[in-house]
Amino acid sequence: MEGKALILVALGLCFQSLTTSTGVAAASSNRRRGNDNFKDIESKFALRTPEEITEDRCHLVPGDINSVAGCNFNHSSKTFVVIHGWTVTGMYESWVPKLVGALFKREPDSNVIVVDWLSRAQQHYPVSAGYTKVVGQDVARFINWLSEQFNYPLDNIHFLGYSLGAHAAGVAGSLTNKKINRITGLDPAGPNFEYAEAPSRLSPDDADFVDVLHTFTRGSPGRSIGIQKPVGHVDIYPNGGFFQPGCNLFDAINQIATKGLGDMDQLVKCSHERSIHLFIDSLLNEENPSKAYRCSSKEAFDKGLCLSCKKNRCNNMGYEINKVRAKRSSKMYLKTRSQMPYKVFHYQVKLHFLGTESVTQINQVLLLSLYGTIAESEDISITLPEMSTNKTYSFLIYTEIDIGELLMVKVQWKSDSFFSWSDWWSSTGFGIQKIRVKAGETQKKVVFCSRENISHLKKGKDPVAFMKCYDKSLNKKDV
Ligand SMILES: *[C@@H]1O[C@H](CO)[C@@H](O)[C@H](O)[C@H]1NC(C)=O
Ligand SMILES: *[C@@H]1O[C@H](CO)[C@@H](O)[C@H](O)[C@H]1NC(C)=O
Ligand SMILES: *[C@@H]1O[C@H](CO)[C@@H](O)[C@H](O)[C@H]1NC(C)=O
Repeated sequence: MEGKALILVALGLCFQSLTTSTGVAAASSNRRRGNDNFKDIESKFALRTPEEITEDRCHLVPGDINSVAGCNFNHSSKTFVVIHGWTVTGMYESWVPKLVGALFKREPDSNVIVVDWLSRAQQHYPVSAGYTKVVGQDVARFINWLSEQFNYPLDNIHFLGYSLGAHAAGVAGSLTNKKINRITGLDPAGPNFEYAEAPSRLSPDDADFVDVLHTFTRGSPGRSIGIQKPVGHVDIYPNGGFFQPGCNLFDAINQIATKGLGDMDQLVKCSHERSIHLFIDSLLNEENPSKAYRCSSKEAFDKGLCLSCKKNRCNNMGYEINKVRAKRSSKMYLKTRSQMPYKVFHYQVKLHFLGTESVTQINQVLLLSLYGTIAESEDISITLPEMSTNKTYSFLIYTEIDIGELLMVKVQWKSDSFFSWSDWWSSTGFGIQKIRVKAGETQKKVVFCSRENISHLKKGKDPVAFMKCYDKSLNKKDV
């Protein structure tokens, strides 16, 4: 009996000495004792300034009160904590100063802290992925110290984590004494995290509000660079989240030709890093936030079925997001341009094809032109998988510029080839009486009418025009 107890005690001691070498046990035991010496914190916390957005000139050192005054930490302003992801080069990537600069532009008095965990972030991916736990612990201990030592409110803290950094931010948020204000996850890493339990990845419990941008989730679950499942209160999937416009090889070559190799790292991880640039855009273009719309799927969104703003169904993407905490995490979608400013203007278009003869055509291309009070956007191409007599079709189109209030819509039915004899001789066509358009950004519904009561849309022929006949807001009947 006694022998056994001894062994248990010995094992226990052994176990304890093993675990104290890891951060968790150290953090919790030190929190109890209240005299953490912080010696084992490897991550570094650089306070950048609007004058020096690129270099880490001044470090806040946990346990060293003077470092905080020495770096001119402003105790009455909010604090952003930027956490980078995996790195091949062991250096900060070019987006870091861009994000820091944009944060200062928007919030000039804020404290912007860059967490340096570069040495742990340049290991083999699975090793670096494992380090997100200790990095999160480092950040949490630092933040807890800052708040205890100076009474700095955790409600003033916003973490921004990219890729692996998003999960480090999540771990950190789960270990702070009280919940911090917000975590923004910028395309949180997928491999090793897609199926991980909430405590080891970013999750909605990690802050008062967690918003996530998913920009590179192409591939099978667990394999894609970005995590596919929603992990925040609001999860936004720009352009469906798989892949971003302007990020294919052809675009990359074009960009190298025009801009040189300077931002090479950006090209390689174009879609992954787009999450950061979308956020930067939201900081810089304050007056025009892009809107994202709640939707059950990318497919439903592409049919234009989700452009509603009722009951918090739409939200601003990025910095000015409304802190909506639904019971279930909600997926939101939007389209963007391929470069800054990323904002586009979304429209749902509904067409009903009339005819006495039953006609069905598949994979037909329509060209839509929208004319508004400010500008026009012509020949927006849309492929309809099917066109049949007496059926209504709904689809999404978007313009890259604000064309103002809609006045007129033109529709053209493209022929299958440049010159098609079958289109020339046959008179394949449908009648269209009205076109219904709903604008996502203004939430206005407008009905456009044919000038001849019914216009005939013929394949391969001239566009047909429809004039605004009434605003749906004036008419109670639902569209
Ligand atoms: C600290 O920030 C506040 C706004 O949060 C600002 O009014 C004040 O001037 C700042 N102090 C210093 C020393 O920059
Ligand atoms: C389409 O509907 C109209 C009006 O209801 C009808 O007259 C016409 O025969 C229908 N066409 C076909 C092909 O069913
Ligand atoms: C317009 O067409 C519809 C359907 O063919 C018809 O019922 C209606 O009377 C027409 N209206 C006018 C003003 O010609």
